[in-house]
Amino acid sequence: MTARIDIGTGDRGESIFFDIEELLATRLLVQGNSGSGKSHLLRRLLEGSAGLVQQVIIDPEGDFVTLADKFGHVVVNAGEHSENEVVRLATRIREHRVSVILALDELEIEAQMRCAATFLSALFDAPRDHWYPALVVVDEAQLFAPAVAGEVSDEARRASLGAMTNLMCRGRKRGLAGVIATQRLAKLAKNVAAEASNFMMGRTFLDIDMARAVDLLGMERKQAEVIRDLPRGHFLALGPAISRRPIPVKIGDVQTQARSGSPKLVPLPSAPDTQAIQGMLFAPGDEALPPAPPPPRSSQATTEDLLRSISRPGPVLTPATATPAMPTEDRNRIIDDVLAEMVADPEATYRAAAVLFQDFGVRCRMHQLPDSGLDLIAFRRRLAMARARLFGEPDEEWRQALAIGTALPDDMLGPFLLVARAARENSEAPSDSALAQVYGTHSLGRVRRLMAYMEEQGIFVLRVDLGGKRSITIPKLGWTTAAAVPEAAE
Ligand SMILES: Nc1ncnc2c1ncn2[C@@H]1O[C@H](COP(=O)(O)OP(=O)(O)OP(=O)(O)O)[C@@H](O)[C@H]1O
Ligand SMILES: [Mg+2]
Repeated sequence: MTARIDIGTGDRGESIFFDIEELLATRLLVQGNSGSGKSHLLRRLLEGSAGLVQQVIIDPEGDFVTLADKFGHVVVNAGEHSENEVVRLATRIREHRVSVILALDELEIEAQMRCAATFLSALFDAPRDHWYPALVVVDEAQLFAPAVAGEVSDEARRASLGAMTNLMCRGRKRGLAGVIATQRLAKLAKNVAAEASNFMMGRTFLDIDMARAVDLLGMERKQAEVIRDLPRGHFLALGPAISRRPIPVKIGDVQTQARSGSPKLVPLPSAPDTQAIQGMLFAPGDEALPPAPPPPRSSQATTEDLLRSISRPGPVLTPATATPAMPTEDRNRIIDDVLAEMVADPEATYRAAAVLFQDFGVRCRMHQLPDSGLDLIAFRRRLAMARARLFGEPDEEWRQALAIGTALPDDMLGPFLLVARAARENSEAPSDSALAQVYGTHSLGRVRRLMAYMEEQGIFVLRVDLGGKRSITIPKLGWTTAAAVPEAAE
């Protein structure tokens, strides 16, 4: 089996090849200004090697998802998964050697960094038995390994930079070969760039980037002008996987198309008269609609049933072997104490329910409660209640709120109760990031979709005023939060 792929043509029209086996050992760095053809080059490389090697693509723009149809890559839409799910996915990807595209386009930059960090670290930490070779392609690598601190939090930057450094510096032994592309070398962390032995340099305008590019190519500074004049799709290439001295390459055609092509001019719509435009723009919006009428109250019996499913533990659940049964009130008090402790502990946000449940068991034992009597589902519900500061026996109005909440899918109870707490007290609507915490995700995109869904289901009515402040009504209860900016930092 030959592991060479044709990447394009040289200056005499001869084919230029990439040795994929060599590439796995020596990694690749691509640089070029916007529009120089980096993503096109990566696509050519991916298409050519799809049948030879497993591929993992970190795709900040969601451009590469079009490879899926023709080459069978699995698309992972990062916005749809929690952190724990991303870890699980990455681990399975290693085990089953599937080619995947991690599409990050629905996330904001900080969430993109966190997600890429989690995903890359999980690939990196896979068990030794699963260290199969894979190309790990990262487009726009300066986003994930920035040379200097930017607007994102230090924590996100450190996580993402650490994962990229591991990939480029220590990935080879684990089978992971980094292929990274960046618009600007000066924006990419030096240690990340330094670990690649193969380079493809495309058109570059800024002196500082040109200087670094010619250094990497081992060329004279005075030859730097060549790089400024490169046409789109043309690169200077060097490295053990391609050529021992710098050679010009014109990248060949690709079989699939980028989802986002270059912008083309489209004729403007023929203009209606000024009045019609005014009418269109200033037509009343949906907010004017009256809120849905409150539905009939659920009967006492159903509420009781639902409440029981929230599982205040009763003596029945105590195993026969347990130490002399503790009075139910005492046990509930301990459970409430433990839950309050967990809610106050920042370490306990964003963790998977199963991990938190284990932690809960340990904490209960430390409070001399060997068996809480809660199973995982009941625990999640009680934790959601604790996060909304619902301890002890709920009053009649909270019973109604809980009845609505317990009818929802498990993971929605937390956000629902958080909103309900604010609405009951008429305090400010929780921000998206506060909702994200109880929902167990870093992705604000996911939270927004959740809110949209809950609104569709008639559970919430959202109202955003002109200042961008959001208030949330729970029509079934007639409770409304005060308005607050959704993005407010907690
Ligand atoms: N070798 C080539 N042959 C034909 N078309 C090309 C070639 N290289 C690039 N193009 C086209 O040029 C446009 C820009 O290329 P591409 O998206 O790869 O640039 P880029 O360097 O990734 O830019 P950015 O940094 O903005 O993402 C695309 O429409 C692409 O199809
Ligand atoms: Mg690109």
